[in-house]
Amino acid sequence: MKIAILGFGTVGSGVYDILSNQTSPLLANIKTAKILIRKGKEKKLPIMTDSIEEIVSDPEISLVVESMGGLTPAYEYIKMALTHKKHVVTANKAVIAANIEEFEKLARENGVFLSFEASTAGGIPWIASVEKARRIDAITKFYGILNGTTNYILDSMDESGADFAEALAKAQELGYAEADPAADIDGIDVRNKVVISCAIAFNSVIDAARFPCFGIRNVTKTDFDYFKKDQCTIRLIGEAERVGDRYEAFVMPNSFHRDAMEATVRRNLNIVTLYGSTIGELKFYGQGAGKFPTANAVIQDILDIYSHKTEYTIDAGKKIGYDDALRKNRYVIRTKQRFDDPSFHTIDKFQDCYYHKTGEITIRQMMELVSRAKALDDRCFIIKEANFQGEKC
Ligand code: HSE
Repeated sequence: MKIAILGFGTVGSGVYDILSNQTSPLLANIKTAKILIRKGKEKKLPIMTDSIEEIVSDPEISLVVESMGGLTPAYEYIKMALTHKKHVVTANKAVIAANIEEFEKLARENGVFLSFEASTAGGIPWIASVEKARRIDAITKFYGILNGTTNYILDSMDESGADFAEALAKAQELGYAEADPAADIDGIDVRNKVVISCAIAFNSVIDAARFPCFGIRNVTKTDFDYFKKDQCTIRLIGEAERVGDRYEAFVMPNSFHRDAMEATVRRNLNIVTLYGSTIGELKFYGQGAGKFPTANAVIQDILDIYSHKTEYTIDAGKKIGYDDALRKNRYVIRTKQRFDDPSFHTIDKFQDCYYHKTGEITIRQMMELVSRAKALDDRCFIIKEANFQGEKC
């Protein structure tokens, strides 16, 4: 099978390198015929071109790897490839989360497949495992550490007392961060991964704008010191739960006891957990970012399409409704100034901050408290107490 690679950055070059230095006989069947680079860039290999038309009109190319990232022109190029009846494999979570329904429909209409294992949890076979679990079980819930950059930052701050900016710079240097690190540190990257995971786990496309999304931009060393007193640490978690035709989802920092598996996930590693009605709890752990793990996941998708193992997995049009009072959780809100609310059971003064601890409240109640906290302190920090399976802190 001849393929084209759109974009020759971290992921695209990783796919090319693995395919060119094949160690598995299976890979001998996959040939990179063309690589799309930006106009004006040097063509370092004879197969490089700056013309997308040249790629989509080539009848010998049956699969396109989109590894440019971002929304534009990735959106247009994926549509062009699908309408020219080329399979598409991508690691681009932003474009998939925003357009999954449209792309799936277009793929079906053109008798080709759209695969995106590498978009969520990098090298961990998460999408394939959720698809497999779903063949038997209703998936009721998933949660996990789905962003390597923020885990690297939180782990460094926890372990070495590094400050936020220093830890972010190091994560960028190691190639984990998005081009715009706001997507990582404000939780947008995880939010995209939650939308994609929901589409597979719940067979329904949810609206990213509906559910709370908090990142780690405001986390401080004082926050780590505060939670350390109770043998806890901080991890950024994406999660969703479904009950009948309703769901709730979050992206937010959670406090975990040091004994919890999530607390032991170091550096840029990811961990993600699903609950199925008969399989129970399943955890998946590994490299969620980086050149070769992500490229590996792209190539797994290519091999599945090549060997006719791929199926359509999303029923376009199926919808579940967001419910911000589905479950109750406990939260901690840190501000410079103290404020009062009947839902707070404790307010701790620690160093020069106030830590307001709530009892069990809904997302709706939590969002009201956050609005009040933000009005008092635009650097406030909100964290949820993890309560997945006895992992309270
Ligand atoms: N910036 C992302 C991360 C890359 O750090 O996890 C992989 O999706």
